Amino acid sequence: MNIAFIGAGKVGGALADQVQRAGHLVTLAARDPGSESVAALLALNPAIGVASPAEAVTAAEVVFVATPAMAAEAAVRALGDALNGKVIVDCTNPVGPGLSHALDSRTSSSAVLQAAAPGAAVVKAFTIYGVEVLRDHRFGGQRPAMMFCGDDAAAKAKVADLIEALGWQPFDVGGLAQAVHLEHMTLLWIRLVRVNGHSPDLAWAALTR
Ligand SMILES: NC(=O)c1ccc[n+]([C@@H]2O[C@H](COP(=O)([O-])OP(=O)(O)OC[C@H]3O[C@@H](n4cnc5c(N)ncnc54)[C@H](OP(=O)(O)O)[C@@H]3O)[C@@H](O)[C@H]2O)c1
Repeated sequence: MNIAFIGAGKVGGALADQVQRAGHLVTLAARDPGSESVAALLALNPAIGVASPAEAVTAAEVVFVATPAMAAEAAVRALGDALNGKVIVDCTNPVGPGLSHALDSRTSSSAVLQAAAPGAAVVKAFTIYGVEVLRDHRFGGQRPAMMFCGDDAAAKAKVADLIEALGWQPFDVGGLAQAVHLEHMTLLWIRLVRVNGHSPDLAWAALTR
Protein backbone atom coordinates (compact mmCIF):
# COMPACT_ATOMS: atom_id res chain seq x y z
CA MET A 1 0.00 0.00 0.00
CA ASN A 2 0.93 3.62 -0.41
CA ILE A 3 1.01 5.08 3.12
CA ALA A 4 1.60 8.68 4.23
CA PHE A 5 2.67 9.88 7.66
CA ILE A 6 1.72 13.26 9.11
CA GLY A 7 4.15 13.54 12.03
CA ALA A 8 7.40 11.62 12.01
CA GLY A 9 8.64 12.10 15.55
CA LYS A 10 9.08 9.36 18.14
CA VAL A 11 5.85 7.52 17.30
CA GLY A 12 5.38 8.40 13.63
CA GLY A 13 9.05 7.76 12.91
CA ALA A 14 9.07 4.34 14.57
CA LEU A 15 5.87 3.28 12.82
CA ALA A 16 6.92 4.66 9.42
CA ASP A 17 10.14 2.67 9.63
CA GLN A 18 8.31 -0.55 10.57
CA VAL A 19 5.62 -0.11 7.93
CA GLN A 20 8.21 0.50 5.21
CA ARG A 21 10.20 -2.56 6.27
CA ALA A 22 6.95 -4.56 6.08
CA GLY A 23 6.92 -3.81 2.35
CA HIS A 24 4.80 -0.68 1.98
CA LEU A 25 5.55 2.52 0.09
CA VAL A 26 5.93 5.11 2.86
CA THR A 27 6.02 8.88 2.30
CA LEU A 28 6.35 11.52 5.01
CA ALA A 29 3.79 14.29 4.60
CA ALA A 30 6.33 16.77 5.91
CA ARG A 31 5.42 20.33 6.82
CA ASP A 32 9.20 20.94 6.93
CA PRO A 33 11.23 18.45 4.87
CA GLY A 34 14.39 19.81 6.52
CA SER A 35 13.24 19.21 10.11
CA GLU A 36 15.35 17.25 12.57
CA SER A 37 12.75 14.49 12.88
CA VAL A 38 12.64 13.99 9.10
CA ALA A 39 16.44 13.97 8.82
CA ALA A 40 16.80 11.46 11.67
CA LEU A 41 14.26 9.11 10.15
CA LEU A 42 15.78 9.25 6.66
CA ALA A 43 19.19 8.51 8.14
CA LEU A 44 17.68 5.41 9.76
CA ASN A 45 15.69 4.36 6.71
CA PRO A 46 16.56 5.98 3.36
CA ALA A 47 13.81 4.00 1.61
CA ILE A 48 11.21 6.34 3.12
CA GLY A 49 10.11 9.16 0.82
CA VAL A 50 9.30 12.80 1.60
CA ALA A 51 6.72 15.03 -0.07
CA SER A 52 4.53 18.00 0.76
CA PRO A 53 1.51 17.09 2.91
CA ALA A 54 -0.90 17.56 -0.03
CA GLU A 55 1.18 15.43 -2.41
CA ALA A 56 1.86 12.65 0.08
CA VAL A 57 -1.76 12.39 1.19
CA THR A 58 -3.22 12.58 -2.31
CA ALA A 59 -1.11 9.62 -3.40
CA ALA A 60 -1.80 7.57 -0.26
CA GLU A 61 -4.45 5.00 0.56
CA VAL A 62 -3.77 5.16 4.30
CA VAL A 63 -2.66 8.24 6.24
CA PHE A 64 -1.14 7.94 9.73
CA VAL A 65 -1.56 11.01 11.95
CA ALA A 66 1.12 11.12 14.66
CA THR A 67 1.39 14.79 15.61
CA PRO A 68 0.71 16.18 19.07
CA ALA A 69 -3.04 15.65 19.57
CA MET A 70 -3.82 19.34 19.73
CA ALA A 71 -2.04 19.98 16.40
CA ALA A 72 -3.71 17.13 14.53
CA GLU A 73 -7.07 18.76 13.85
CA ALA A 74 -5.54 21.77 12.10
CA ALA A 75 -3.13 19.58 10.14
CA VAL A 76 -6.03 17.42 8.93
CA ARG A 77 -8.34 20.35 8.16
CA ALA A 78 -5.61 21.98 6.09
CA LEU A 79 -5.67 18.96 3.76
CA GLY A 80 -9.35 19.45 2.92
CA ASP A 81 -10.70 17.20 0.19
CA ALA A 82 -7.32 15.48 -0.29
CA LEU A 83 -8.36 13.18 2.56
CA ASN A 84 -11.63 12.08 0.95
CA GLY A 85 -11.76 8.31 0.62
CA LYS A 86 -8.61 7.78 2.70
CA VAL A 87 -8.17 5.73 5.83
CA ILE A 88 -6.79 7.89 8.65
CA VAL A 89 -4.94 5.99 11.36
CA ASP A 90 -5.18 8.22 14.41
CA CYS A 91 -2.11 7.63 16.61
CA THR A 92 -2.66 10.70 18.80
CA ASN A 93 -3.40 10.85 22.49
CA PRO A 94 -4.95 13.93 24.11
CA VAL A 95 -2.79 14.07 27.24
CA GLY A 96 -3.69 16.96 29.53
CA PRO A 97 -2.15 18.40 32.71
CA GLY A 98 -1.51 15.82 35.43
CA LEU A 99 -2.11 12.98 32.96
CA SER A 100 -5.75 13.99 32.59
CA HIS A 101 -7.73 13.51 29.38
CA ALA A 102 -7.19 16.78 27.52
CA LEU A 103 -10.73 16.72 26.11
CA ASP A 104 -12.23 16.04 29.57
CA SER A 105 -13.33 12.58 28.35
CA ARG A 106 -16.30 14.23 26.60
CA THR A 107 -15.00 13.27 23.18
CA SER A 108 -11.88 11.70 21.71
CA SER A 109 -9.13 13.03 19.49
CA SER A 110 -10.32 10.46 16.94
CA ALA A 111 -13.83 11.94 16.89
CA VAL A 112 -12.31 15.39 16.46
CA LEU A 113 -10.31 14.16 13.46
CA GLN A 114 -13.34 12.39 11.98
CA ALA A 115 -15.30 15.67 12.15
CA ALA A 116 -12.37 17.50 10.55
CA ALA A 117 -12.19 14.99 7.68
CA PRO A 118 -15.75 13.73 7.13
CA GLY A 119 -14.84 12.12 3.79
CA ALA A 120 -12.20 9.90 5.41
CA ALA A 121 -12.57 6.87 7.67
CA VAL A 122 -10.76 7.30 10.99
CA VAL A 123 -9.40 4.28 12.82
CA LYS A 124 -7.69 4.72 16.17
CA ALA A 125 -4.69 2.41 16.47
CA PHE A 126 -1.08 2.25 17.66
CA THR A 127 -1.82 4.31 20.74
CA ILE A 128 -2.25 2.24 23.89
CA TYR A 129 1.46 2.07 24.74
CA GLY A 130 4.38 4.36 25.27
CA VAL A 131 6.93 4.67 22.54
CA GLU A 132 9.19 2.01 24.10
CA VAL A 133 6.65 -0.69 23.25
CA LEU A 134 5.69 0.86 19.93
CA ARG A 135 9.36 0.76 18.92
CA ASP A 136 9.89 -2.85 20.01
CA HIS A 137 6.94 -5.11 20.74
CA ARG A 138 8.75 -8.44 20.89
CA PHE A 139 7.65 -10.24 24.07
CA GLY A 140 9.02 -13.73 23.58
CA GLY A 141 6.33 -16.04 22.23
CA GLN A 142 3.43 -13.73 23.13
CA ARG A 143 2.00 -11.11 20.82
CA PRO A 144 0.89 -7.98 22.68
CA ALA A 145 -2.63 -6.81 21.91
CA MET A 146 -3.07 -3.79 19.68
CA MET A 147 -6.58 -2.54 20.29
CA PHE A 148 -8.15 -0.44 17.58
CA CYS A 149 -11.55 1.02 16.79
CA GLY A 150 -13.45 2.78 14.03
CA ASP A 151 -16.83 2.98 12.33
CA ASP A 152 -15.84 1.80 8.84
CA ALA A 153 -15.43 -1.97 8.52
CA ALA A 154 -13.31 -1.85 5.35
CA ALA A 155 -10.97 0.73 6.88
CA LYS A 156 -10.64 -1.35 10.03
CA ALA A 157 -9.83 -4.44 7.99
CA LYS A 158 -6.95 -2.60 6.29
CA VAL A 159 -5.59 -1.39 9.62
CA ALA A 160 -6.02 -4.86 11.17
CA ASP A 161 -3.89 -6.28 8.34
CA LEU A 162 -1.18 -3.72 9.05
CA ILE A 163 -1.30 -4.47 12.78
CA GLU A 164 -1.00 -8.19 12.09
CA ALA A 165 1.81 -7.70 9.57
CA LEU A 166 3.81 -5.76 12.14
CA GLY A 167 3.48 -8.63 14.61
CA TRP A 168 0.81 -7.47 17.05
CA GLN A 169 -2.40 -9.25 17.95
CA PRO A 170 -5.10 -7.10 16.31
CA PHE A 171 -7.98 -6.56 18.74
CA ASP A 172 -11.06 -4.79 17.38
CA VAL A 173 -12.82 -3.03 20.27
CA GLY A 174 -15.69 -1.59 18.22
CA GLY A 175 -16.79 1.74 16.81
CA LEU A 176 -15.05 5.10 17.03
CA ALA A 177 -17.03 5.85 20.21
CA GLN A 178 -14.58 3.49 21.95
CA ALA A 179 -11.63 5.75 21.11
CA VAL A 180 -11.99 7.67 24.36
CA HIS A 181 -11.50 4.39 26.26
CA LEU A 182 -8.35 3.58 24.29
CA GLU A 183 -7.11 7.08 25.11
CA HIS A 184 -7.67 6.31 28.79
CA MET A 185 -5.75 3.05 28.41
CA THR A 186 -2.79 5.06 27.18
CA LEU A 187 -3.12 7.46 30.10
CA LEU A 188 -3.14 4.43 32.42
CA TRP A 189 -0.01 3.00 30.72
CA ILE A 190 1.76 6.34 31.07
CA ARG A 191 0.80 6.62 34.75
CA LEU A 192 1.86 3.05 35.52
CA VAL A 193 5.24 3.50 33.86
CA ARG A 194 6.16 7.17 34.23
CA VAL A 195 4.64 7.76 37.71
CA ASN A 196 4.21 4.40 39.48
CA GLY A 197 7.56 2.96 38.47
CA HIS A 198 6.52 -0.02 36.36
CA SER A 199 8.87 -1.12 33.61
CA PRO A 200 8.28 0.43 30.18
CA ASP A 201 8.40 -3.16 28.90
CA LEU A 202 4.73 -3.38 29.84
CA ALA A 203 2.20 -4.60 27.28
CA TRP A 204 -1.48 -5.52 27.38
CA ALA A 205 -2.44 -9.08 26.48
CA ALA A 206 -5.90 -10.27 25.44
CA LEU A 207 -6.37 -13.78 26.83
CA THR A 208 -9.26 -15.98 25.81
CA ARG A 209 -10.33 -19.52 26.68
N1 LIG B 1 5.60 9.36 22.83
C1 LIG B 1 4.83 8.35 23.20
O1 LIG B 1 5.21 7.51 24.06
C2 LIG B 1 3.47 8.16 22.55
C3 LIG B 1 2.84 6.90 22.59
C4 LIG B 1 1.60 6.72 21.95
C5 LIG B 1 1.02 7.80 21.29
N2 LIG B 1 1.64 9.02 21.29
C6 LIG B 1 0.99 10.12 20.58
O2 LIG B 1 1.61 10.23 19.30
C7 LIG B 1 1.60 11.59 18.90
C8 LIG B 1 3.03 11.99 18.55
O3 LIG B 1 3.84 11.85 19.71
P1 LIG B 1 5.43 11.81 19.60
O4 LIG B 1 5.91 11.41 20.94
O5 LIG B 1 5.84 11.05 18.40
O6 LIG B 1 5.75 13.38 19.36
P2 LIG B 1 7.05 14.04 18.74
O7 LIG B 1 8.22 13.12 18.85
O8 LIG B 1 7.15 15.40 19.34
O9 LIG B 1 6.71 14.18 17.17
C9 LIG B 1 5.67 15.00 16.75
C10 LIG B 1 5.67 15.05 15.23
O10 LIG B 1 4.55 15.84 14.83
C11 LIG B 1 5.00 16.88 13.96
N3 LIG B 1 4.18 18.06 14.20
C12 LIG B 1 4.13 18.82 15.31
N4 LIG B 1 3.25 19.81 15.16
C13 LIG B 1 2.74 19.69 13.92
C14 LIG B 1 1.82 20.43 13.17
N5 LIG B 1 1.21 21.51 13.68
N6 LIG B 1 1.54 20.01 11.90
C15 LIG B 1 2.16 18.94 11.36
N7 LIG B 1 3.06 18.19 12.04
C16 LIG B 1 3.34 18.57 13.29
C17 LIG B 1 6.45 17.12 14.30
O11 LIG B 1 7.09 17.67 13.18
P3 LIG B 1 8.45 18.51 13.27
O12 LIG B 1 9.54 17.51 13.35
O13 LIG B 1 8.43 19.31 12.01
O14 LIG B 1 8.35 19.35 14.51
C18 LIG B 1 6.92 15.70 14.62
O15 LIG B 1 7.23 15.00 13.43
C19 LIG B 1 1.02 12.40 20.06
O16 LIG B 1 -0.34 12.65 19.81
C20 LIG B 1 1.18 11.48 21.24
O17 LIG B 1 0.20 11.70 22.24
C21 LIG B 1 2.85 9.21 21.88
